[in-house]
Amino acid sequence: MLRRFHHTQPDSFEFSEENLKWAREQIAKYPEGRQVSAIIPLLWRAQEQEGWLTKPATEYVANMLGMARIRAYEVATFYFMFQLQPIGSIAHIQVCGTTSCMICGAEDLISVCKERIASIPHQLSPCERFSWEEVECLGACANAPMIQIGKDYYEDLSRESFESLLDDLFANRKPIPGSRKGRFSSEPQTGVKCLAEYENGKAKFSPAVSLARIEGDQ
Ligand code: FES
Repeated sequence: MLRRFHHTQPDSFEFSEENLKWAREQIAKYPEGRQVSAIIPLLWRAQEQEGWLTKPATEYVANMLGMARIRAYEVATFYFMFQLQPIGSIAHIQVCGTTSCMICGAEDLISVCKERIASIPHQLSPCERFSWEEVECLGACANAPMIQIGKDYYEDLSRESFESLLDDLFANRKPIPGSRKGRFSSEPQTGVKCLAEYENGKAKFSPAVSLARIEGDQ
């Protein structure tokens, strides 16, 4: 997909006082001469401040790190985590469309986005509160199909559960992240079959049992 900065850009960008302090702390973490390595966290913070990553913000970060603007443009336009155009003020929905998600129903989720948000990706909904896009694998393949909103994952979705999630967002309610089938993490859909002594990721604490096992091992 061709990734370019949006045709409409603000005149300038500056970090807020708080973000400037944070950015200087990040830069100081890198060895002398390697400050440009801070570019991704700084661009990310600029995006969080503005809602999307503008060209002036990218240039501001490049200047801060003493690097050529073209190198900062390259980073900004390479990673799809950087939004190069305005996104919905409430939610930008990233629908995974890679193999596992596509097999398990990502096309249904994309249809819902087209029907309820905008007919094409990266376009704002009429109320300008929502936008969506299809993205590559987000690393939650065992819980396909799934979407990401901000830093949260919503997994094991169906057309119905995704519609209900959107209903919440449209009503200004924040949906609870995670599996829509009640799975913890990526445990089997048909229930836990091994490590059954662990419940919801935590071991049942039983010193007597643990001690007996240790002694039995010896
Ligand atoms: S294929 Fe969708 S998260 Fe990997």
